[in-house]
Amino acid sequence: MKILVTGGAGYIASHTNLELLNAGYEVVAIDNLSNSCMESVQRVEKLTGKKIQFYEGDILDKEYLLRIFAIEKIDAVIHFAGLKAVGESCAIPLKYFNNNVSGTITLLEAMKESNVQNLVFSSSATVYGDPVSVPVTEDFPLSVANPYGRTKLMIEEMLNDLYQSDSTWNIAVLRYFNPIGAHESGEIGEDPNGIPNNLVPFVAKVAAGVLDTINVFGDDYDTPDGTGIRDYIHVVDLALGHIKAIEKLVTNPGLVTYNLGTGVGYSVLDIIHNYEKACNKKLPYKVTARRPGDIATSYADSSKALRELGWRAERSIDKMCEDSYRWQSRNPNGYLCK
Ligand code: UD1
Repeated sequence: MKILVTGGAGYIASHTNLELLNAGYEVVAIDNLSNSCMESVQRVEKLTGKKIQFYEGDILDKEYLLRIFAIEKIDAVIHFAGLKAVGESCAIPLKYFNNNVSGTITLLEAMKESNVQNLVFSSSATVYGDPVSVPVTEDFPLSVANPYGRTKLMIEEMLNDLYQSDSTWNIAVLRYFNPIGAHESGEIGEDPNGIPNNLVPFVAKVAAGVLDTINVFGDDYDTPDGTGIRDYIHVVDLALGHIKAIEKLVTNPGLVTYNLGTGVGYSVLDIIHNYEKACNKKLPYKVTARRPGDIATSYADSSKALRELGWRAERSIDKMCEDSYRWQSRNPNGYLCK
């Protein structure tokens, strides 16, 4: 089977490409490289000894997409391409709606015109807003607090309407909790532009000596140690979830939605202390104000994915921190294109 991976040079995509190739799939990738490097694609090729057919371009360019679908015989699309910085999405919302929502519409049109109707979509636990309780199941009410989250929810709603109008589509919506870690080779990993927004990339840069002090955004939440609790999931487990989703699409399931998380919550301080074990040094941190829009606690009930996909996250928090640190210490400034 041949899979088109949009945003194919990105963090989750590079790990998914690797697992796809190892599982015997052919991979075609498209990326505009606005927030990623070709080097991740090359490193995956080196790690697997297999080739990725790479197209540099934008999913907003329908003619380009149609050309790719005409050249390659694509069986399914995994759609990662999108902007993902919450703060930036508040500052420049139209860019987010254009890239994420219009980009997805263009992709769906090109797929339909090319008779490719199998899609895995990268959604986010952000669509649950501030959940009324934990763990969160897929049927919880949905709400969002920022333009980034709104793009994810709008796309989910669009996919629902599309499926209602035409049940020949097969669509797996995957709601990721907090992906962290890296491939254990230390060759591919997360490489955000500038100062990281997310906790673990920030901690990784402090551990690697690139940044000085971790800011803990509030210690007065209603949690055991007062800091926010999230469901951190190893990116390789997440990548393997995409393989299971592709296997599911082949059985013509229609539209299906799954949480991909571990079901276990860790606080900010838990993460810092686990990371200290992984890098074998003390990591300086200070407690600062809460970050607007943050919630106290979120973690997944992923039992539906286990039941219906036969998938469960297997890698521990220790492994997540060790693999993250291996990547960051070997590549303190990320990929070389930055
Ligand atoms: C964030 C986004 C979410 C997105 C997800 C994946 C926000 C408000 N939410 O989730 O929409 O889907 O990333 O990219 O940005 N923290 C610190 N110090 C830091 C950074 C974070 O203490 O420097 C804390 C946060 O308050 C939170 C936890 O660490 O309790 C995790 O934060 P982060 O890694 O940014 O993920 P989320 O906020 O869960």
